[in-house]
Amino acid sequence: SVMVGRSVRRRRRWRRAVGVLEELDEGCATPIGRLRQVVDAMAVEMHAGLASEGGSKLKMLLTHVCNLPTGKEKGTYYALDLGGTNFRVLRVQLGGQRSAIIGHDLDRQPIPQNLMTSTSEELFDFIATSLKNFVEKEENFSGASQQERRELGFTFSFPVKQTSSSSGNLIQWTKGFSVEDMVGRDVAECLQQAISRKGLDMRVAVLINDTVGTLALGHFHDEDTVAAVIFGTGTNACYLERADAIIKGQGLVTTSGGMVVNMEWGNFWSSHLPRTSYDMDLDVDSPNPNDQGFEKMISGMYLGDIVRRVILRMSQDSDVFGPVSSKLHVPFILRTPLIAAMHEDDSANLSEVARILNNTLEIPNVTLNVRKLVVKICDVVTRRAARLAAAGIVGILKKIGRDGSGGIASGKTKGGSQYKMRRTVVAIEGGLYTNYRMFREYLNEAIGQILGEDVAPHVIIKVTEDGSGIGAALLAASHSSTL
Ligand code: GLC
Repeated sequence: SVMVGRSVRRRRRWRRAVGVLEELDEGCATPIGRLRQVVDAMAVEMHAGLASEGGSKLKMLLTHVCNLPTGKEKGTYYALDLGGTNFRVLRVQLGGQRSAIIGHDLDRQPIPQNLMTSTSEELFDFIATSLKNFVEKEENFSGASQQERRELGFTFSFPVKQTSSSSGNLIQWTKGFSVEDMVGRDVAECLQQAISRKGLDMRVAVLINDTVGTLALGHFHDEDTVAAVIFGTGTNACYLERADAIIKGQGLVTTSGGMVVNMEWGNFWSSHLPRTSYDMDLDVDSPNPNDQGFEKMISGMYLGDIVRRVILRMSQDSDVFGPVSSKLHVPFILRTPLIAAMHEDDSANLSEVARILNNTLEIPNVTLNVRKLVVKICDVVTRRAARLAAAGIVGILKKIGRDGSGGIASGKTKGGSQYKMRRTVVAIEGGLYTNYRMFREYLNEAIGQILGEDVAPHVIIKVTEDGSGIGAALLAASHSSTL
């Protein structure tokens, strides 16, 4: 009868929807064995990237930062942080004692979308104007009259080939930025010129990546901090490398302490990464195809769009979402904070999922079972991201001999006879980690699984706040002529 036919069809549609999910789940699988392969591949690529220029997709950029803040930094410094969704200006007062960041003020604003694809002059004029307004407001407010020249730490979170700790050329854009005339040019010089055009008396004292700022602040608070990782719009890591391990930079490393290396791990690639057709489509549609493969599976800019692509496929294959909504064809319409909200919806009828499907994707009236499928998609995509990120972190630890693989008895305590693994701190920053609980939990869990219960307690993941900005001010202080 008609009734039977309808329910058979409904069941068939449902099965097709579940099929899309199952295929996704298989394609995104990250069993512990595969994570270990990613750990090894990361360590191997790090070696290759340090051996020669272009030796790996991992750029392993030399930052020329050899000294991390000690805690003795003193004075007032500015910082400018460009590279994510927001652009920020900070004024940091340092008291000359450990942990004495006396205060910092901050101005945060979104980058106007049109400037992300404009000319360098327009972009830097906008930045310099915001900087000048902030300086005037702050100095009026504090009643300070500026005697010496102001010093600025500039955090520019894109791949830069440094020519010194205060200069460097943009290699290429990532994260959807594309100001073509900037590529190959000295970023610090562009900013310095714009600052002069605005008549502001300020010197760009250091030019750093956001990971380096985070490492600087992490190290300032805790000297066992050896690496820093960003999980935000993009993802990347830096760490402190021994001088003799930096083959391609022989002679550049001036202190025995080594040098901070900006890995640009967003561009890491390995055949062990679980890649799906959604990832390939996303890559093809991006302004930087074949680049930033790791980043495109992990970071905040992309997770929501992977989920959107899966929902689109499910909608086309099964019609459990009703007629295919035109919104499902709009790239990046489903931002990562929205998939976090759906993923973490703990209401019995998944009302938040229903609300977002309706308001953002214009898909009304979705049954509870279909809402559950959507939550599961978010779970699969985010879990893969977090576990791969964890493998990346352990890869760094392996490279620097802090993953316990040399045996837990590697490394002596200061005392002497007792052997013990050294305490290792990794500083972490970025909204994906701090605002998305499930991402954070999956990441922490996977690190524990990979390292095992003997080693894991020695590795501490520590969130820093505004390190990408405050760290730049700290480094400006330790690199400034007035110190
Ligand atoms: C992108 C940039 C990198 C930055 C990261 C996090 O991967 O290329 O330089 O550190 O995003 O902001």
